[in-house]
Amino acid sequence: METATENRKRVLSFVQSSGTPTLGNYLGAFRNWAGMAAENDCIFGVADLHALTVRNAPADLRRRSIEMYAWLLALGLDPEKNIIFLQSHVPAHAQLAWILNCYTAFGEASRMTQFKDKSKQHADNVNVGLFTYPILMAADILLYNPDQVPVGDDQKQHLELARDIATRFNGIYGDVFKIPEPYIGKKGARVTSLTDPEKKMSKSDPNVKSFVSLTDTNDQIAKKIKSAVTDSEAAVYFDAEKKPGVSNLMTIYSCCTGRDFAAIEAEFAGKGYGDFKAAVADAVVAELEPLRTEYERIVGDKAYIAACAKTGAEKAARLAYRTLNKVMKKVGFYQV
Ligand code: TYM
Repeated sequence: METATENRKRVLSFVQSSGTPTLGNYLGAFRNWAGMAAENDCIFGVADLHALTVRNAPADLRRRSIEMYAWLLALGLDPEKNIIFLQSHVPAHAQLAWILNCYTAFGEASRMTQFKDKSKQHADNVNVGLFTYPILMAADILLYNPDQVPVGDDQKQHLELARDIATRFNGIYGDVFKIPEPYIGKKGARVTSLTDPEKKMSKSDPNVKSFVSLTDTNDQIAKKIKSAVTDSEAAVYFDAEKKPGVSNLMTIYSCCTGRDFAAIEAEFAGKGYGDFKAAVADAVVAELEPLRTEYERIVGDKAYIAACAKTGAEKAARLAYRTLNKVMKKVGFYQV
């Protein structure tokens, strides 16, 4: 099994190119990726095959994939030291996904809550890709034998499935896949919608007021946070059940300032939501503005993006085909 170099962990994660990334993607995933990149061997990908599970105009899919790649570079991930690539550039992902389909029970795939949610959301296009999506995700992971997969809370169930498929496959054929560990941050793993704090903040939400997009201007960020749904109690304290809106804003504030909940409660004791929201907005602006500036610089340089993506795909393919070939041999394909 090809794994990380000594003392360094192999870390892998992907983001779908289904829209502009949100503050949820940033706090739940991107920030952790950037934090882990210096000390580990990292593989980060744009999941453009996954983005095809909903209808896209071809030009939009292409543009979003390039832009998402630029976001990964803007995070400070180093394309020389890390592997940063697009999923569709390495056909091994689709090939392994087919094989893993045959080692996944229909019943276990049917239990995926994201499939149930998304089929309601896109009732006019419940395609088979939406159903097998977690199995493609398992292939994304298992091709590279990562030690850790940093994701937000919503991907936990998909990761469990990847672990189950790998364990089953290893049980039949021997030690082929490394069983990956999820890495879920203590704070920010589930940033919720600003307009409906019971729901996850999502880049594909049709209501643009529900999320802070990483391309939002400082003004737009402030407006969205100031109009976020809270409650009528006018007291800032953490209670995810009773006060989901305020608790979400506290989480965001805590992630952006490093202050814990007790310190935040003390800071806003006796103050109203107006002061609190203004402080949250300032903290988010301070966190996102430098990232946006860097993104704008990079996204204009299409030749640089293409060169990085090409090198990334070549490096990824070398690792991926090593695993795929082993799998193909194990299951009994005739190799010449
Ligand atoms: P995606 O594109 O929906 O999200 C990318 C990452 O952002 C996290 N995230 C959030 N974290 C906190 N709060 C939120 N509101 C929020 N919204 C999104 C997600 O948990 C994720 O970590 N199926 C995956 C992409 C994928 C993948 C993989 C991930 C494809 N192959 C292999 C890991 C390993 C997805 O749709 O993520």
